[in-house]
Amino acid sequence: MSSLKNIIGGLAMAATVALAPMAAHADDQDTIDYRKHVMATLGAQAAALFMTLQQKAPAENFAHHVKTLAVTSQQALKAFEPNVEGGTAKGDAMPKVWSNWDDFAGKMNDMVAKLEALDKAAESGGMAAAGSMVKEAFTCKGCHDEYRYAE
Ligand code: HEC
Repeated sequence: MSSLKNIIGGLAMAATVALAPMAAHADDQDTIDYRKHVMATLGAQAAALFMTLQQKAPAENFAHHVKTLAVTSQQALKAFEPNVEGGTAKGDAMPKVWSNWDDFAGKMNDMVAKLEALDKAAESGGMAAAGSMVKEAFTCKGCHDEYRYAE
């Protein structure tokens, strides 16, 4: 995993590359890194959200975490579109993601829809309205059990 300093340095460089006339090309490792970054964001935001529910973190941030999850979830399916297998270590994506794409995509879209509904509820009623909907919106494990090598 790159250090934050490298990531920020890389960001400045990526911005330069994006403006350069020659198109840069994503290789297989970029594809894997990209989807892991998106999923890791979901993981960190889910952990932060649970801390607000457990009253170990500011309750005012509950709705912000829900919104971040709803937005990030929309990035996930696109990140998995290129068929690049990620190895067989625990936590890696199984080849089944692509051989069973319609089911995988359906599960991803289902999560996006549920997080969107959660976001709407959190926006209007905060934790009191949306807290009880969190469990149903977190379909993470169902997909991981089927599409990631067991941890
Ligand atoms: C439709 C399937 C699907 C859903 C839904 C899903 N995930 Fe994932 N997730 C995956 C797959 C596949 C990987 C493995 C990606 C890889 O290693 O290339 C993954 C990887 C991860 C990782 C590890 C990232 C890394 O750095 O290696 C985290 C954390 C994660 N998911 C969190 C979540 C959370 C939290 C949710 C629910 C809010 C969620 N996921 C919902 C399929 C899913």
